[in-house]
Amino acid sequence: MISLARPLISDEEKNEVKKVLDSGILAQGEKVKNFEEDFANYCGVKYGIAVNSGTAALHLALIANKISKGDEVITTPFSFIATVNTIKMAGAKPVFVDINEDTFNIDETKIEEVITDKTKAIMPVHLYGNPCNMKEIMNLANNYDLKVIEDACQAHGAMYNDSKVGSFGTGTFSFYPTKNMTTGEGGIITTNDPDINEMCRKLRQHGMAQRYSYECLGYNYRMTDIGAAIGVIQLKKLDFWNEKRIENANLLSSLLKDVNGIITPKVDSSTKHVFHQYTIRVTNSFGKTRDEVINLLNDAGIGNAIFYPRPLYYYSHVGFNGKLEVTEKVCNEVISLPIHPNLSEDDLHRIAEVFI
Ligand SMILES: Cc1ncc(COP(=O)(O)O)c(C=O)c1O
Repeated sequence: MISLARPLISDEEKNEVKKVLDSGILAQGEKVKNFEEDFANYCGVKYGIAVNSGTAALHLALIANKISKGDEVITTPFSFIATVNTIKMAGAKPVFVDINEDTFNIDETKIEEVITDKTKAIMPVHLYGNPCNMKEIMNLANNYDLKVIEDACQAHGAMYNDSKVGSFGTGTFSFYPTKNMTTGEGGIITTNDPDINEMCRKLRQHGMAQRYSYECLGYNYRMTDIGAAIGVIQLKKLDFWNEKRIENANLLSSLLKDVNGIITPKVDSSTKHVFHQYTIRVTNSFGKTRDEVINLLNDAGIGNAIFYPRPLYYYSHVGFNGKLEVTEKVCNEVISLPIHPNLSEDDLHRIAEVFI
């Protein structure tokens, strides 16, 4: 079986976890501090605030940016549910913009038309590890005085021009086990803004500024030192793993390039796509339906998944009337194939053979 995703844990991580367990300090201690500093440095920002999931990171990033009831947040409908759930958790209204079918990301040319006097923020999602057009998004944000909260939960190490994602607005990352690096469960907020830093630190710990001094409503979103110890080691390997993912993607795309009706991922020259997912589109001209392709992959023992089968506005609690054409089409065409760093050339040939 060629799995779709698998965390890569070596003796190094295991040894570091053992040290934490032996130390007796299991939650938010020195290791969390080390991990925050390392991850912030890696992203080229001043502050990193570790939390216990990407969802927590998004939630705190929204609140720290003062997004609340009555505000509108512009985002993509083609993402994981946490993107929109956290906007709702902050009390705001998600406003969806259609995606670009080449990048799978929010279509930046369509953002301006939905900006109203209630719009407070744009939340671009760097889907599958592919950076959004941050130049245009930051221009719009500056022109309309909007906050930018980057959902970089799938894009550790991805770059737009010379900058890492998560360094443009307030950045948020997830370290769930299937991600390009993991801490078990976990997340982090990245920022250059001292006020956002201070606010997120309070919010992740019950609004506590100093011991038993609670300044606002807060949460328990702390990361464990166990997770942070894993994260410190994983971060050191991230660039190597990302390069392997890129190499694998290049090989797979070259093997599939002449297959009629299969559209392989496109990478813009101004970006570094880190291939959290390698997602193809199965179009009508392929001659087999997407369901038939899934059956063939399953029969060949090749992991696969549909990210995402439905636009986020389909879910009743989200509250959005309307349909967006490109998103509707793409939801019916995508399949993600294995691309993780542990694949051999042989594995990649086996995957391609299903389509040839
Ligand atoms: C785009 C996106 N946003 C947010 C999240 C939430 O992260 P977590 O599962 O760590 O809460 C994920 C996780 O899969 C994600 O893919």
